Amino acid sequence: MNATPPEPARQCPLCPRLVAYREQNARSEPTWFNGAAPSFGDPEARLLIVGLAPGRTGANRTGRPFTGDYAGDLLYGTLKKIGLAHGEYRADPSDGLALRGAMITNAVRCAPPENKPTPEEITACRPFLESRIAALPRLRVILALGSIAHESVLRAHGYKPSTSKFGHGVEAVLPNNRSLVSSYHCSRYNTQTRRLTPEMFEAVMLRAKTLSGL
Ligand code: URA
Repeated sequence: MNATPPEPARQCPLCPRLVAYREQNARSEPTWFNGAAPSFGDPEARLLIVGLAPGRTGANRTGRPFTGDYAGDLLYGTLKKIGLAHGEYRADPSDGLALRGAMITNAVRCAPPENKPTPEEITACRPFLESRIAALPRLRVILALGSIAHESVLRAHGYKPSTSKFGHGVEAVLPNNRSLVSSYHCSRYNTQTRRLTPEMFEAVMLRAKTLSGL
């Protein structure tokens, strides 16, 4: 039985380096969210999308995953295009955007310096991912964005990362008849280098949608 709640406290104390970074951001940008970003979406989600960690000026600023940074434009744009998000995405948590059948979370909930969480921080945050997964009664598919999310999802199920090597479009079977689908992260770097094109991203999102029965 996992005693960890699915969402960490906004001022989660678990990772000293991330707390120090959060406090530094709170001093320089006191109007920002500057906390552990909660998951966003449908509590009846059949599809859980797992990102890496809040960007400093994205979810760390706005308080909603992928909201306000470059990666969010592609993620929310694609969710809208394939019918899993409704309303207008204005990169602002009060834009009224709603997800239907899907939820977005992060492997690490607090913004890490240079977008790079340490292995210890990823491990410390995993109980929240485990609880988030356990609290979704209709969950069928987890879409991992990037290798860190892929590995953390595998470990959250007690699997070694070697059970499924990360790659774009890779699929793995999870317990309870669930599936893991993985994608290159929709980061600015990956899209600008064309490692990930909007077409590739839409195709993998559609595959996850279909597998989840949405
Ligand atoms: N914003 C997030 O919330 N997660 C990511 O992985 C990237 C940007």
